[in-house]
Amino acid sequence: MNGAQDKLKVLFASAEAAPWAKVGGLGDVAAALPAALIGTAGSALDIRLILPFHAEIKRKNPTLGYLGAFSVPNQTGVFSAELYVASLHGITTYLLDSELTNHNSPVYYGDPALDGRKYAAFSVALLEAARFLDWQPDILHANDWHTALAVYALKTLYQQDPFFKETRSLMAIHNLPFNGYGSEFAMTELGFMPGTYEDLPDWARLTPLPLGIAAADQIVTVSPQYAREIQTRDFGCGLHEYLEKHNNKLIGILNGIDTRLWDPAADPYIPFPFTAADTNGKTLNKAALQRELHLEENPDIPLLTVVSRLDHQKGFGLLFDAIPDNARKPWQLVLLGTGSQDLEARAEDLMRQYPQKIVSLLRYDEAMAHKLYAAGDLFVMPSLYEPCGLSQMIAMRYGNIPVARATGGLQDSIINYHKAPDEATGFLFTEKTHEGLVSSLNSAILTFQEKETWAKLMNNAMNKDFSWKSSAQNYWSIYQEIKSKRE
Ligand code: ADP
Ligand code: GLC
Repeated sequence: MNGAQDKLKVLFASAEAAPWAKVGGLGDVAAALPAALIGTAGSALDIRLILPFHAEIKRKNPTLGYLGAFSVPNQTGVFSAELYVASLHGITTYLLDSELTNHNSPVYYGDPALDGRKYAAFSVALLEAARFLDWQPDILHANDWHTALAVYALKTLYQQDPFFKETRSLMAIHNLPFNGYGSEFAMTELGFMPGTYEDLPDWARLTPLPLGIAAADQIVTVSPQYAREIQTRDFGCGLHEYLEKHNNKLIGILNGIDTRLWDPAADPYIPFPFTAADTNGKTLNKAALQRELHLEENPDIPLLTVVSRLDHQKGFGLLFDAIPDNARKPWQLVLLGTGSQDLEARAEDLMRQYPQKIVSLLRYDEAMAHKLYAAGDLFVMPSLYEPCGLSQMIAMRYGNIPVARATGGLQDSIINYHKAPDEATGFLFTEKTHEGLVSSLNSAILTFQEKETWAKLMNNAMNKDFSWKSSAQNYWSIYQEIKSKRE
């Protein structure tokens, strides 16, 4: 592939992209993967990102150009959409605004019908945006339920449309349980008919993510282990039989992290930079954080950290249940997170009960997240399931050793001290119980007292390559395979 015409054209559709709109890891991935792909494929690839023009992005007021307005058909006529263009990390990024995607809306309402309406409309409008630009994508790379209906539309509403005749699709699953259930009304309004895929269960016939999965030419999930897990009843959310039967089009590719953004040697948010060779700055960051949060300033007390959406997925039940019985042991815990009200209430209660040991910061705070990764000794992530998880990779890069459940991407990215102490980068446990977590935490805390062993663990973790490089190469090969299928 050399000439401009031969470039592979990929439309990367996402609900989030950091720093403009980030709720969790999807925001990190959409911001980093397209640029990493350009790093791999160079001028052979023309990849462009498209996002809803959320209120949050408007508030950040990025430099942008107005491209114009176009119409999107629906059952009651047409609705109008406006397209803007900007650059995010050097990637051409389209911002799509319209009444149906709800001008000035939050990234997610948390209300299935409102989110359904916003993202069903966005999914159709993003295809019309490509037509408006007269830019025929070779591949639509959709992410999660929010843009899954664009994949389904290619095989239904747009199947006979010559403009999309050559467009193939990749459906990336970042989180299977979030499937867009509740979008039925919006889908019907937009002219979608229920899916007729006989391998899908009935409830899935008007549900965005299963329809995107069934319609896609390729399914990718964000770690090899999660790709295996979702083919089982325990993790498959009712789609395991479909996924197992069609596993010839399913692959797991581990996410990476943006190693320039997450770099303890050059992180503008942390007061004391450090490296694997010289971790003195880490000790100073810990002391500074203990002071800032009015915890006892003591390098020998293990500092446990959590940076997470407060969602039951993340296993907070295990962590919170473990605290009362272990409150007399020497540790401190700083938790940064926001999300479900019941988990926020429990986190607040625990801080009230153990003010000397626990600080719960119930907010989204980028700067504090960096400080916690840098200051912490142990990063607690007892997820019940974890498609990939970026937090544990970021933590390892900052010498903050994860104690995590052996599931999904946690299992793929952490080398377990219990199994391979010499190469270990963290501690993994399998039981879905607080006893399982406590036993792993106890051995981590004991190991923390052995200065030399701990230094080795930190060194192993900090030297691991968590960059996007090899994963971007995998995605690039997949793109080429999907394209060659059509020729
Ligand atoms: P998920 O996508 O399931 O939320 P990941 O581990 O893949 O989990 O990604 C989480 C991302 O969101 C990380 O970059 C993490 O630092 C960030 N994050 C989560 N909660 C917060 C918060 N309260 N403040 C700042 N960053 C947060
Ligand atoms: C999801 C998953 C998380 C993954 C992220 C990015 O939100 O919960 O495990 O790292 O997407 O792929």
